[in-house]
Amino acid sequence: MDISRFKGRSLLTLLDYSPEEIRELLDLSKLVKAQQKRGEIRHRFTGKSLAMLFEKRSTRTRCAFETAFGEEGGHPVFLSTADIQLGVKESIEDTARVLGRMFNAIEFRGFKQSTVQTLAEYSGVPVFNGLTDEYHPTQVLADILTMEENFGDCRGKKLVFTGDGRNNVARSLMVICAKLGIDFTVITPLGLAPDRDLVKICAAATAASGARILVSDKPDDVKGACAVYTDVWASMGEEDKKAERVQLLKPYRVTQALMNKTGEKDAIFLHCLPAIKGEEVNADVIDGPQSRVWDEAENRKHTIKALMLATINGTAD
Ligand code: CP
Ligand code: NVA
Repeated sequence: MDISRFKGRSLLTLLDYSPEEIRELLDLSKLVKAQQKRGEIRHRFTGKSLAMLFEKRSTRTRCAFETAFGEEGGHPVFLSTADIQLGVKESIEDTARVLGRMFNAIEFRGFKQSTVQTLAEYSGVPVFNGLTDEYHPTQVLADILTMEENFGDCRGKKLVFTGDGRNNVARSLMVICAKLGIDFTVITPLGLAPDRDLVKICAAATAASGARILVSDKPDDVKGACAVYTDVWASMGEEDKKAERVQLLKPYRVTQALMNKTGEKDAIFLHCLPAIKGEEVNADVIDGPQSRVWDEAENRKHTIKALMLATINGTAD
């Protein structure tokens, strides 16, 4: 597989990647997952270092980057905002310049999309968006990989996201589905509908892919979905909105009755995690036979390893 054209690139949002490039990253993810399952560890990041910047908490994203890079011989360095200057006593541009002199790549999780953009602009090394208020691109690579493991080619299949339609995960799912030709329905109260400009951009991408994008406030529109996805009702940084969101989003909870409304007996349940059982999803669904959330969490690691091999090394050899 020739992945040399990825070398040196950042992943800030999947809007910057073509459908073919996303396809290649997913195929590479399958390859690195199979290699790991066979026990093949190739030390492909030996002599390399990764700066991991976190303004927000993380379990999966941190552990996926850290283990994927470390087990291939690389040196990941975790830096929370309690440890480093990042727009506090030093501009983000200057921190980026310094990190770019010492590290082969940078991962960033935090609030503003502009921070991850600035890091990419001034560091001169690949920068990976590990979640911002706007996007969570590495998450949705793992989500689509999980869908493909269950259904094979997902073009023309329907994925439903129910919950906070404005959030980073819903937005990123819309982008990847539009590009890959997967039908995507967001079921959300009108006040939490996704940003119109993003819907327009995604609608433009569907012209080539054939995907259908629908924004609805009716849970019945889950019909025909092969995958039902939800996320927390108040994302990190929005804790003050929690009470209001609980009232708004109660009708959008994933229950077994909602799963049954898909009319698809093989439908699966997905969640980026962490989940609050009894809020956005009932325990019998997330812990039940239709749930694929643990595969989905594991797939964070394989997709992130593939992304780093492509962009840092430009080769998977
Ligand atoms: N899904 C996800 O990003 O999980 P963490 O917040 O634990 O990294
Ligand atoms: N929307 C959630 C995703 C967590 C992985 C958040 O931003 O908190």
